[in-house]
Amino acid sequence: MNDCRHILENLTATVVVLDSSLRIRAINPAGEMLFHLSARQILGIGLRELLPHNAALIGQLEDSLESGHPFTDHGLRVTLADGRDITVDCAVTPLPVDGTTELLIELTPVDRLLRIAREERMLDQRATSRALIRGLAHEIKNPLGGLRGAAQLLERRLPDDELAEYTRIIIREADRLRSLVDRMVGPNTPLNKRSTNIHQVFEHVRSLVLAETPDGISVRRDYDPSLPDFPADPDQLIQAILNIVRNASQALAGKGTIWLRSRIERQFTIGQLRHRLVLRAEIEDNGPGVPDEIREHIFYPMITGRADGTGLGLFIAQDIIHRHDGMIECISRPLQTVFRIYLPMGDGNG
Ligand SMILES: Nc1ncnc2c1ncn2[C@@H]1O[C@H](COP(=O)(O)OP(=O)(O)OP(=O)(O)O)[C@@H](O)[C@H]1O
Ligand SMILES: [Mg+2]
Repeated sequence: MNDCRHILENLTATVVVLDSSLRIRAINPAGEMLFHLSARQILGIGLRELLPHNAALIGQLEDSLESGHPFTDHGLRVTLADGRDITVDCAVTPLPVDGTTELLIELTPVDRLLRIAREERMLDQRATSRALIRGLAHEIKNPLGGLRGAAQLLERRLPDDELAEYTRIIIREADRLRSLVDRMVGPNTPLNKRSTNIHQVFEHVRSLVLAETPDGISVRRDYDPSLPDFPADPDQLIQAILNIVRNASQALAGKGTIWLRSRIERQFTIGQLRHRLVLRAEIEDNGPGVPDEIREHIFYPMITGRADGTGLGLFIAQDIIHRHDGMIECISRPLQTVFRIYLPMGDGNG
C-alpha cells in the first residue's frame, strides 16, 4: 500500500477519485499542483465547482457513472476555475465500490510535453549560437588588439596634434567593440555555488532597481516564505534577475508596477531531468508588453526593441539560468509580461 502511495505521489499525471456525486474523494500531489489547491482544501469539493466552465466534460462523467463505461479523450481543453486553459489527455474508469460507483480519473497535461519538446530544441539552438559567438569573439578580439596597438603607436608619431583626434576615435571604438564582445561571451567565471536564499536575491535586485528608477514605479513582493535555501551562485542570479527587472522598469517608462514572485513546484521537468523540487521565480510587469516582432527572439543576442539597447541583457540572463540547469521563459501581452525562471533546488532524480 505504501508503495502505491509513493507511486501516486510521484506521478506527473493528475489522479483524482470522484464519488457518485462527482465530489473529490482523493487526489495526488500532481492534482493539487494543477488546481493550485492543497488536498485538504480540495477534498469534498464538487467537480462542477472546480471546473465551472466544462459542462461537456461533466456530462461525459455523469454518463460514465450511469453506464459504468470507461472513456478516454485526447487533447481535451479544460478551463480551470481561475481562467487558466490547459490541454490534457483524460482517462476515466468507473469503479464499483460498496454498492455505489466511483470514478477514477487520470489527467495528463499535454502542454507540459509540448513545452519539454520546445525547450530541448531551444537548448540545442542555444549551444550552437554559443559556439558561434565564442568563435567570432576570438576572431574579432585578436585583430582588434593589433588595431588598437597600431593606433597608439601612430598617435605618438603624429606631426600634428589635431590629427590625434582620429587615432583616439580608433582607440575608443576598439575599446567599445571589445567590451561588447566580452559581454556577448558572458560571465566566464565558474559558478560559485553556496546555500542561497532567493528572497535575498530578489531584495538585493529590488533595492538596486528602486535606487535607479523614478518614483512612479513600485516593486511589490509576493514571496512564498516556506521556500528553502538552495545551492546557487547568488551573485550571478542577482545579475540575471537584475537584467530582467531593469528591462521591466525600462518598459514601464516611469509608471507602473513590477511584481517579484516566488513559488515552489513539485515533480517538475526541466530539459530531460525530472526534479523533486523546483523554484519558480517570476518577474511580472504591467507595461506595454514585448513588441510582437521580437517576441520569439528576445533571448538571442543583439535582439533589442530599444534605440539604445545592445540586446544582451536577456541573453546573459538566460545563460546564467542555464548554467544553473534551470530554464527561463517569457509570456507577454499588453499590460502583463511575465518572465518565469525555473531552478532545480537539488534532489534531481531524473
Ligand atoms: N518587461 C518587458 N516589457 C517589454 N519589453 C521587454 C521587456 N523585457 C524585454 N523586453 C524587450 O526585449 C528586448 C531585449 O531585452 P534585452 O535585455 O536582451 O536587451 P536590451 O534591454 O535591449 O539591451 P541591454 O539589456 O543589453 O542593455 C528589449 O529591448 C525590449 O524590447
Ligand atoms: Mg536589457
